[in-house]
Amino acid sequence: MRAIIFNEHSPSLEVYQYTEDMVVPEPGPEQVLIEVHYAAINRLDNWVRHGWKGLNLDFPHIPCSDFSGVIVKTGERVENWQPGQRVTANPLMWHGEDRFILRGEHNLSPTWHILGENIRGACAEYVAVPARNLIAIPEDYDMRKAAAASLVYVTAWHSLMVAGDLRATEKVLIVGAGGGVNTASIQISKLAGAEVFVIASDAKKAERAREQGADWVHDRSTEDNWSKAVYLATGKEGVDVVVDNVGEATWQKSLRCLRNGGRLLTVGGTSGYNAVVPVNMMFGKHLRIIGSTMGSQFDYRTVMTQVFRGTLDPVIDRVFPMQEFRAAMERMLANEHFGKILLQVKK
Ligand SMILES: NC(=O)c1ccc[n+]([C@@H]2O[C@H](COP(=O)([O-])OP(=O)(O)OC[C@H]3O[C@@H](n4cnc5c(N)ncnc54)[C@H](OP(=O)(O)O)[C@@H]3O)[C@@H](O)[C@H]2O)c1
Repeated sequence: MRAIIFNEHSPSLEVYQYTEDMVVPEPGPEQVLIEVHYAAINRLDNWVRHGWKGLNLDFPHIPCSDFSGVIVKTGERVENWQPGQRVTANPLMWHGEDRFILRGEHNLSPTWHILGENIRGACAEYVAVPARNLIAIPEDYDMRKAAAASLVYVTAWHSLMVAGDLRATEKVLIVGAGGGVNTASIQISKLAGAEVFVIASDAKKAERAREQGADWVHDRSTEDNWSKAVYLATGKEGVDVVVDNVGEATWQKSLRCLRNGGRLLTVGGTSGYNAVVPVNMMFGKHLRIIGSTMGSQFDYRTVMTQVFRGTLDPVIDRVFPMQEFRAAMERMLANEHFGKILLQVKK
C-alpha cells in the first residue's frame, strides 16, 4: 500500500519517504481496517521523528494520529460497524481494564498510547484501529474537517472543560493564535461562554483569531511584553485561565497574567520544557498549574458531537498531496500555518 514512512529517528525531514510497498495491515478481532481519505499532521509527528528515550518503534514507522476514511473490513468480534461507513477515531488507545479505564479515565491509564506515536499511524492507504475508538462521520460532513479535528479537539476539550473546569464568563488567555490546539481552544472557550484573550504572532494571525471569535487579541510582533497588555486589558486583575502549550519561552509571562487563584493549563511545551516557575508567585497568588494529555473516549464523543453539529468548526490551513509530506511538515515547523495541515491520501 501507499504510505509515508521513516526507518530511523532524525532531526532531518529527509528521512520521510513515500513508498507504495507497505503491507496492508490485518485488522485484529476487535479492530476495523479503514481506507484513509485524509490524514492530518500534529507537532507530535515532529517529536516522534526526533525520538526520545523509551520510544521503541517498530520501523518502518508511519506518522499521523488523525484521519478520516471508510471502513473496508471488520475483525471477527466487531459488532455495529460495517464496511462502507465513514469514520474517524480517537487517536488515544489503551489496553485491558485498569482502575482508570474502569472509571472512564482512559488518558490516565498507564497503558495509554497514541496512533502514530508508539504504533504505526494513518498517513497510509489503510490503517487498522480498535472499533471502540471509532466515531461515525455524518453523511454531509466534510471529510477534510473530520480528519482535522480528533487529536487537537479532544486535547483542548479535556484540558479546558474537564481538567481546567472552565466556567461561563471566565476570562481565558490563549498563548498563540493559529496552532491546532489553540484554534480549538478559542472555539471551545467561546462555546463555554468565556471571554477570550489571544496572543498572536503577527497581524494576519491576530485578524484570523478575531474571526474565530476572540474578544481581545494582542499582536506580539508589535509589543512582546504582552503580560502588561493583558494586565491592563483586565482592569489590572488578570485572567482566570491561561492556555499555554508554548512552555519555556512564555510561562513566566503567562503566570504574570493570572489573577489571584488563577490556573495555567498546559498540554505541551513547543519552545522547551524547562520553564522557570517563581515559587513566590505560585503561593503569593494562589496559582495552580494543571497538566493533561489527550482525553477519554467520553471526552472524544462529547467534543466530536459538537464538531459534527458545527458548533465547533475545525480550521483547515492547507491540504497537501501525501507525497508532499515533507513540505507539509516544513510549513508547520516554520509556524506559517493557521489551523490544521492535511494530507490527501486517497487518489
Ligand atoms: N499532551 C497532549 O495531549 C497534546 C496534544 C496536542 C498537542 N500537544 C502539544 O501542544 C503543543 C501545541 O501543539 P499544536 O499541534 O497546537 O502546535 P502548532 O499547531 O504548531 O501550534 C503552535 C502554537 O504555538 C504558538 N507559539 C509558538 N511559539 C510561540 C511564542 N514564542 N509565543 C507565543 N506563541 C507561540 C503559535 O502561535 P501563532 O499561531 O500565533 O504563531 C501556535 O499557535 C505542541 O508542543 C504539542 O506537542 C500536546
